[in-house]
Amino acid sequence: MKKIRIRTSTEAFYSYDILVGLNIAKLADYIFKKYSDRKIFIITDNNVKNLYGNKLTDSLKSFGANVKLISFKAGEQSKTRQMKELLEDRLISSGANRSSLIIALGGGVVGDLAGFIATTLFRGIEYIQVPTTLLAQVDSSVGGKVGINHPSGKNLIGAFYPPKEVLIDTSVLKTLSFSDYLNGLAEVIKYSAVLDAELFEILENKSRLLKKLKLDVITEIVFRCCELKAKVISKDEREKSYRRILNFGHTIGHAIELLSNYKIQHGYAVARGMAVEADFSVRLGLLSKKDSDRLKTLLNKFGFETDLPKNYTMEDYLKAIQIDKKSNDFGVNFTLIKKIGSAKINVLLNENELKTLLMFYDLR
Ligand SMILES: NC(=O)c1ccc[n+]([C@@H]2O[C@H](COP(=O)([O-])OP(=O)(O)OC[C@H]3O[C@@H](n4cnc5c(N)ncnc54)[C@H](O)[C@@H]3O)[C@@H](O)[C@H]2O)c1
Ligand SMILES: [Zn+2]
Repeated sequence: MKKIRIRTSTEAFYSYDILVGLNIAKLADYIFKKYSDRKIFIITDNNVKNLYGNKLTDSLKSFGANVKLISFKAGEQSKTRQMKELLEDRLISSGANRSSLIIALGGGVVGDLAGFIATTLFRGIEYIQVPTTLLAQVDSSVGGKVGINHPSGKNLIGAFYPPKEVLIDTSVLKTLSFSDYLNGLAEVIKYSAVLDAELFEILENKSRLLKKLKLDVITEIVFRCCELKAKVISKDEREKSYRRILNFGHTIGHAIELLSNYKIQHGYAVARGMAVEADFSVRLGLLSKKDSDRLKTLLNKFGFETDLPKNYTMEDYLKAIQIDKKSNDFGVNFTLIKKIGSAKINVLLNENELKTLLMFYDLR
């Protein structure tokens, strides 16, 4: 088991450990030893409940813990204000109090929703992240961003609220669908492209093993990504500037997601977004064509598409990009790359510049 400590401030509240390599079978033991003095609420979705939630609850009960599992229907459609209310009602009617502990067991949806509930319930109770998708293990469980969707947009209601700790067992990824696995892998490729050329090389050399879900390789990679995200966050916890380095591929990626009406999953959209933003980087003279080709080759190795979907117009794209959170009156801020493993944040592109860059795609 390897440990990373996130210290985003001198205050203990904002510091927490990420443990990678903890076996889910030993999780109950670990949690019981640390938190048996309080009521424990495991919040999870119906899939993860059947796979791991019930077992964890039963083990904790067998040790004598005061534990209750609360589940909801899996999927992004559950990340709503209504669901937040329903879960709060369940928690309160089940006797939750100021010193209770929430365990967010699941993917990013569970982590965001349960974490956000913990933020405001009794003015904030402690919670632990136990992420079970690759995306949640390398991204959403680390950094303390929690929240829910609003009918007019994703993640519009939320907070920065650090977990007590993040406990990661990569072996649970064995039951994940391959498409959900790849969805997370796109973020792994992103970390390497903006921050870690050595990780990029590992991904190039071990793509075959990664596609086969070779656990020791995945564990190493998850650990490395958590370390990278931890470093970024400790420099800029509240996404004022430097944390934007993690937005590479996301401005175009979000536009693709939005235009597809979320039929294209986040990671797949970000993969295409990275390829297109690498094109932008080359055209703006920031990146060599050779490095851009290397990135696309790696993305292709995992089966990602690397072009802009052609079934939308230039206007569609411009509109979708403008409403991205990274836009301001003067244009849109992109995070681009300078070479593999190194990025440039706050590259402001105005509408005309964007139009010129988008002209290179044969759009409808
Ligand atoms: N807070 C952040 O910083 C942050 C960052 C990135 C993404 N997110 C959010 O994360 C969410 C997406 O997360 P996600 O991709 O994990 O989706 P998800 O939570 O919906 O999980 C995807 C699917 O996998 C299932 N699942 C989870 N673990 C499993 C396992 N071990 N085996 C089998 N099935 C399993 C789930 O039930 C679900 O059906 C989005 O809502 C996004 O906004 C948040
Ligand atoms: Zn992302």
